[in-house]
Amino acid sequence: MSVIEKIRRKAALSMKRIALPEGSEPRTLAAAAVLRDESLCRPVLLGNPGEIRAAASLAGVDIRDIEITDPASHPRAEAYAETLYELRKKKGMTPESARALAKDPMHCGVLMVKCGDADGLVSGAVHSTGDMLRPALQIIKTKPGTKIVSSCVLIDCPNKSLGEDGLLIFSDCVVVPCPDAAELADIAISTADTATTLCGIEEPKVALLSFSTKGSASHELVTKVREAAEIAHGLRPDLLLDGELQFDAAISPEVGELKAPGSPVAGHANVLIFPDLQSANIGYKIAQRIGGAEAFAVLQGLAKPCNDLSRGCSVGDIVNTVCMTAVQAQA
Ligand code: ACO
Repeated sequence: MSVIEKIRRKAALSMKRIALPEGSEPRTLAAAAVLRDESLCRPVLLGNPGEIRAAASLAGVDIRDIEITDPASHPRAEAYAETLYELRKKKGMTPESARALAKDPMHCGVLMVKCGDADGLVSGAVHSTGDMLRPALQIIKTKPGTKIVSSCVLIDCPNKSLGEDGLLIFSDCVVVPCPDAAELADIAISTADTATTLCGIEEPKVALLSFSTKGSASHELVTKVREAAEIAHGLRPDLLLDGELQFDAAISPEVGELKAPGSPVAGHANVLIFPDLQSANIGYKIAQRIGGAEAFAVLQGLAKPCNDLSRGCSVGDIVNTVCMTAVQAQA
């Protein structure tokens, strides 16, 4: 069974409540109907009810029995505004601006999650990554013990001899442009935890990638990766983790044995930590477009799950992202 099918089945076990702030967007409406029909979770469409019903009718989507919440007249609007004001007053927010923002569907959805009125949120079919991420970073913040929010992409490869039965987890492909060594260590630990909680990988094998393997090259970029591996190892000695490793040394048993003999990870890595956002983002798109892999992105490190979509997403992508969010909420 593919990793996404396992995640869909796991999501269905708990029927989490997931807020969808882009409530009148046609693909989101169609995804909400699939989630209802397949009993995968309880979607909540946010927006003006009249506009949502009109959009559903135009798109030919039956939204009966799907909850609609209007941020403009939400019964908890005042409590959300108060929460937002308390969180952001040191940053210059006034009670009036908090009241206005709490009525914006994206902020309302994030506040629902913050206040426990929804288990998670999925958005981004319309909004950019930054517009979706900023409210989540500012309101939900990081989970205890995690310094930064990052992301990972589940790469389900056609070649099942790679990683965990064909599954490799790449990070950070979406959020942190230039992590320093401590941030890279944080990303490595978060990704190992996501491998376990979301994908059921009991023994993540984490490789911190570079253009050098175990000192084969010297450069400040290599030093950063080596330092990150040392920091991560110090923080989580229980994890199987090694770096710096080249990509081939990380995933090919023959090359790993040759270039990094004795490594607990080389040749068998299932979690691949790239040194920065450019390499990670390019890397996952190469795996997808040239390698024929399926790719599923999630955020990690937030105290409660919120996930971003690509603006080019399909209905299936939204359903999958909502299911991943629901499984993250179970943890
Ligand atoms: N973890 C935790 N908190 C963070 C993080 C992080 N990674 N990044 C920013 N923050 C916090 C800041 O400390 C700040 O908090 P504060 O307001 O309480 O002081 C708040 O979030 C906003 O931070 P800014 O620096 O003002 O926000 P910025 O404009 O830098 O945006 C963002 C942050 C959106 C994550 C930015 O780093 C970014 O644009 N990243 C790249 C996103 C992207 O385009 N990805 C690739 C495309 S997506 C794809 O291909 C699937």
